[in-house]
Amino acid sequence: MKIISNPLALQQHVKNIDKTVGFVPTMGALHEGHIALIREAKKENELVVVSIFVNPTQFLAGEDLKKYPKKEEADKKICELAGVDVLFLPQAKDIYTQDEVKICAPNVRGYVLEGATRPGHFSGVLTVVMKLLNIVSPSRAYFGKKDAQQLHLISAMVQQFFMSVEIIPVNIVRDSDGLALSSRNVYLSSKQRVEALKIPKSLYTASQLIGKNILNTVQIKEAMKQILAPLHVEYVEILNRDFEVIKEVELGNTIILVEVIVGQTRLLDNIWL
Ligand code: PAF
Repeated sequence: MKIISNPLALQQHVKNIDKTVGFVPTMGALHEGHIALIREAKKENELVVVSIFVNPTQFLAGEDLKKYPKKEEADKKICELAGVDVLFLPQAKDIYTQDEVKICAPNVRGYVLEGATRPGHFSGVLTVVMKLLNIVSPSRAYFGKKDAQQLHLISAMVQQFFMSVEIIPVNIVRDSDGLALSSRNVYLSSKQRVEALKIPKSLYTASQLIGKNILNTVQIKEAMKQILAPLHVEYVEILNRDFEVIKEVELGNTIILVEVIVGQTRLLDNIWL
């Protein structure tokens, strides 16, 4: 595995190799969810590039940028074992300068749900993803469905800016207790982890109701909120795949999304129906 930290060196390296490139952008603290992305990338491409960069512009003041889990040595081993060809490990100074051109998240879809609780977050995500995609020039880039709004906005950016990369959504990976894997799960105490299990339970309940043909979204959201109580729920929302609010679940075109704060930890989860 080649490790490169200079963006121009990576750009050159990829240009010189005439192969299909699969790209997995990450912020490190890699877990099985990231490994699933790498596996998909390996299946479909001749060369796999992973980036590890804790992007400062997607953290709001007061968020966990400074304490975001960093596990560089373990991450390198995970990448090596997973068969990654190139690991891109830039520093903030390699990616950002001063007074920069930025990508702005759309006024509506970038400022609802997670964008409402973290205004500006998605502009930071889109800006860094644009930079990373331009550095790596991949044929395909892989993003987890857990960050459904991020995935939606990145797909929109790629389409609206006529970029030639294919965005591939990858299914959520869960722990054996049902909690969706996230680098932030390490912040949870064992008591908080038990509380957090209400999140997958609420989604399971929603899918059971839908299985009984209860499709009214207000009714489903109410049942979910009852299960999530007394946790601090940021939102429970039911949308179609274009990220529009719907009154009735449309099978094959629905995402149910939850964001909950457990202790100080923001946890996201969703199911695609
Ligand atoms: O999902 C993440 O880990 C980050 O938001 C991403 C896409 C790597 C951009 O920093």
